[in-house]
Amino acid sequence: MIDLHNHLLPGIDDGPRTLADSLAMARLAVAAGITRMVCTPHVLPDAAPTPQQIAQAVAALRGELDAAGIALQIDTGAEIAVDVAFELDDDALRGYSLGGGGVWVLLEMPFEGWPLRLPQFLADLEMRGFRAVLAHPERARSVQLSVDRLRDLVGRGALTQITAEAVTGEFGPLTRQVARTLVTNGLAHLIASDAHSPTRRPPGLYPALEQAARWMRAEPAELGWMVTDGPRAVLAGKPVRPPRLGVGPDPRPAPRPEVRDERPGRPPRDARPGRPGRPPEPRRRQTSR
Ligand SMILES: [Fe+2]
Repeated sequence: MIDLHNHLLPGIDDGPRTLADSLAMARLAVAAGITRMVCTPHVLPDAAPTPQQIAQAVAALRGELDAAGIALQIDTGAEIAVDVAFELDDDALRGYSLGGGGVWVLLEMPFEGWPLRLPQFLADLEMRGFRAVLAHPERARSVQLSVDRLRDLVGRGALTQITAEAVTGEFGPLTRQVARTLVTNGLAHLIASDAHSPTRRPPGLYPALEQAARWMRAEPAELGWMVTDGPRAVLAGKPVRPPRLGVGPDPRPAPRPEVRDERPGRPPRDARPGRPGRPPEPRRRQTSR
């Protein structure tokens, strides 16, 4: 599995403070079946590591992983606050792109407020040769109030990434319910950990994939695209067309309609084997009020 959004680099943002914690996260990720992590430190108005700094930090951590014998592939990336992204030129966007693929950038949805410029910005990005993955919309208050806001953005070619622990409930019932609505309406395309430390939101994807599959009444493998081929295409800078998967049929048998003979003195229908129950009278249409 590929984890497209996490804070694995030590000492660069609010992720792990020490190399030891980074390596502990990497070991947890490998144990959880993750083979590749894209390092996406925050790029904020007041704290913005440059693409060069991120590339150096990834190269340094890659050396430490090799030295520690941890079989985890790591890539460059960034989680760019939308207000910062609005002002970036093409070279900077390419530098921050996921996996260095030069196309897909990860935009952090604000937790409060709705960025009015975002729909037009997505259209502009496409004209400039970029595409956006929207990070954790299920945690944004504006989306929690109206999930339909996302339809416009997805219609403009954006992908959405929901957070594994939002799916499994660690962010509370409202965020979980919004995540469920996004999954079952085809508005969630990727699952990532957004891991920050070995203990606070540790790496892990599969429990969320299982939960999302239960919501879809499907097998986890049917949603595997969200953590395998989907992220892989993003990292390669390819166009991405998420598969459409409808919610599966309810496995519970439909309740049998109960038909009763309501005439006085009639025994219950079950007491008269072999006699079909009378169908109910068709409901008369009300013609006057
Ligand atoms: Fe993040």
